[in-house]
Amino acid sequence: MILLASNENPLGMPESARRAAAAALQGAGHYPDSNGTALKHALSARLDVPMDWLTLGCGSSEILELAAQVCVQPGEGVVYSRYGFVVYGQAAAHAHARSTVVPARDFGHDLAAMRAAVGEDTRLVFIANPNNPTGTFLEAAALLDFLESLPAGVTVLLDEAYTEYLAPAQRYDSIAWVRRFPHLIVARTFSKAYGLAGMRIGYGVAQPALAARLNARRPRFNVSTPAQAAAVAALGDDAFLARSYQLNHVGRAQLENGLHELRLASIPSAGNFLMVQVGEGRTVHARLLAAGIEVALLDNYGLPQWLRITVGLPEQNAAVLAALRDHAPAR
Ligand SMILES: Cc1ncc(COP(=O)(O)O)c(C=O)c1O
Repeated sequence: MILLASNENPLGMPESARRAAAAALQGAGHYPDSNGTALKHALSARLDVPMDWLTLGCGSSEILELAAQVCVQPGEGVVYSRYGFVVYGQAAAHAHARSTVVPARDFGHDLAAMRAAVGEDTRLVFIANPNNPTGTFLEAAALLDFLESLPAGVTVLLDEAYTEYLAPAQRYDSIAWVRRFPHLIVARTFSKAYGLAGMRIGYGVAQPALAARLNARRPRFNVSTPAQAAAVAALGDDAFLARSYQLNHVGRAQLENGLHELRLASIPSAGNFLMVQVGEGRTVHARLLAAGIEVALLDNYGLPQWLRITVGLPEQNAAVLAALRDHAPAR
């Protein structure tokens, strides 16, 4: 089966991380380092923030959950965009918060409408940049305006799960914003460009008062010893990251061009996936499965006409394009 459903890295786990995780298994009879000292040390050097600005999570999903647990009391408000990443609504529900889902603009976050939706009782805003499943991207200037416009007491969780895939011209320094805004949490993951989705490890960056609250809420041994070791190795593996970026850059263009030739509409994506309009999503999904290719249905996002295809290896991209060509509904 060709797996293009979960925005994983088609290169799999970096060899450096595999070796580090295997070596760490030797010590797995002991509990992990609850403080994640070695990884925080490496992240602190990489991001130029003190270690007590960091929170490690069982995937960045846990950072999103912790943000809702820490920032929102039951009945208080959480704001996020329609077609925003599925975990935002779940995290809000787990915190018994009131969700305000703001209509999208061209499938992306409408920051003006999101700002207008922030009310007296709003405590948390989720923003994904780029967003999953749409791939839409917000320019740094617009994001900064949004951050500056918010009243104190509203925390922003800026979810940068795909930030390593941004083109050089799109990149921005969100860690500098964390230094400026006491209510900003930047969440990142090792699941995507670093190839460690199955290890379950991500992190949040926030000023120390907020980071301390996130850490206090965190289960004590939430990140395993092999996961910590793998992340340290992956973080230092610049060659793997560069290869992941390049493979995605080329593969995304391959998919975009192929879909264009098939006259299937897709949304320009800044991530490692494309959202494509196929007509009956369920039917095409089943046909692709029958051809040995798994992509993501988007019914649960209210997008039944669309599928999300993760950028794979060149031959996997070619296979999904060929299957779409063979099985394209009559037009
Ligand atoms: C936008 C976004 N944020 C966060 C995540 C969470 O990833 P993980 O929990 O594996 O770090 C994902 C995973 O698909 C995602 O797409």
